[in-house]
Amino acid sequence: MKSIKRIGVLTGGGDCPGLNAVIRSIAKPAMSYFGATVIGIEDGFEGFVEGRMRELTPKEIGGIVSVGGTILGTSTKGNPFQFPVETPQGVEVFDYSENAIRNYKDWGLDALIAIGGDGTMHIVDRFTDMGFNFIGVPKTIDNDLAATDVTFGYYSAVAVATDAIDRLHTTASAHHRVMVVEVMGRYAGWIALGAGLAGGADAILIPEIPFKWEKVYEHVLRRSIHGNRFSIICVAEGARPSEGDIIVKETDKKRTDPIRLGGIGELVAKKVTEGTGLETRVTVLGHLQRGGSPTAYDRILASKFGSKAIELASENKFGHMVSLRGNEVTSVPVKEAILSLRTVPPNDQGVVAARAVGTCFGD
Ligand code: F6P
Repeated sequence: MKSIKRIGVLTGGGDCPGLNAVIRSIAKPAMSYFGATVIGIEDGFEGFVEGRMRELTPKEIGGIVSVGGTILGTSTKGNPFQFPVETPQGVEVFDYSENAIRNYKDWGLDALIAIGGDGTMHIVDRFTDMGFNFIGVPKTIDNDLAATDVTFGYYSAVAVATDAIDRLHTTASAHHRVMVVEVMGRYAGWIALGAGLAGGADAILIPEIPFKWEKVYEHVLRRSIHGNRFSIICVAEGARPSEGDIIVKETDKKRTDPIRLGGIGELVAKKVTEGTGLETRVTVLGHLQRGGSPTAYDRILASKFGSKAIELASENKFGHMVSLRGNEVTSVPVKEAILSLRTVPPNDQGVVAARAVGTCFGD
């Protein structure tokens, strides 16, 4: 890291458990081994455009490996290339990338590590093309980034959702009800699949396998008839019936991804009641899946990702994203990571395993 004396770090997009573990494993070696100054950028790219930055101290990066959230703050808004501004005509977007570049130069940054999801990696790619020294670290509970086998945060979200399904089992059984649990994941069904498999859900509905209402009704009724007088349906927020659309909760032009999903859980519960006569209840887990401490796995993965990012900086390997391939932490050109979203292949081993124990996917 001879040429890197001042390195910036930011967390962009929705938070997830493990962000602080990454910040720690970037900042500690940068300060102690390389004698670099680490500049923390507040609230993701929004703070980058607005010049909200501070020098991180050894004190504030200590004791945070187990702490959820991010000490830097984050934002789902503020893409520098499409920066949202309130005008008398409503929200308009402007290219404010020049402001971000000015701040990069004013703060004397030699490189910047951006920890984020798909939206963040697109921005990293744009700045890389403009000749700036950016490195990406993949995070998201959705696990939907291409070019890495897993993102940190995913297993923490799955742990929360699995615990919820375990708890719903006992009350579902006591009241002989159908319990619908809606989990996050955007357009990918990884959280629903992981938690549904770990929690033994009776039906898992994911965006990658559009479902038929009749198949879901038949499955819960069959269970009822055979003496299992309850069912758990784990539904991803992006799931949709084969003859229906994904449910959008809100569209907000200020967000890097303007669409916020949600509502399919309520619909599934309503339709199952109508289609089967069984009593249903719905639980929407929402942001519980993003809160709290990272699991041990995510702390370890996040720590490895952070130290790899510093290694990349020391090798001047910019325009790359840290990635997990098998058991190896490596890196890939960020361009590869943004080619597509990583969704659940219909023949994924998790789908196969769930089907093998009789789980219904509604197809
Ligand atoms: O991308 C992470 C995620 O939690 C998605 O699973 C979810 O659709 C979205 O963010 C929610 O966004 P917000 O926190 O802005 O409501």
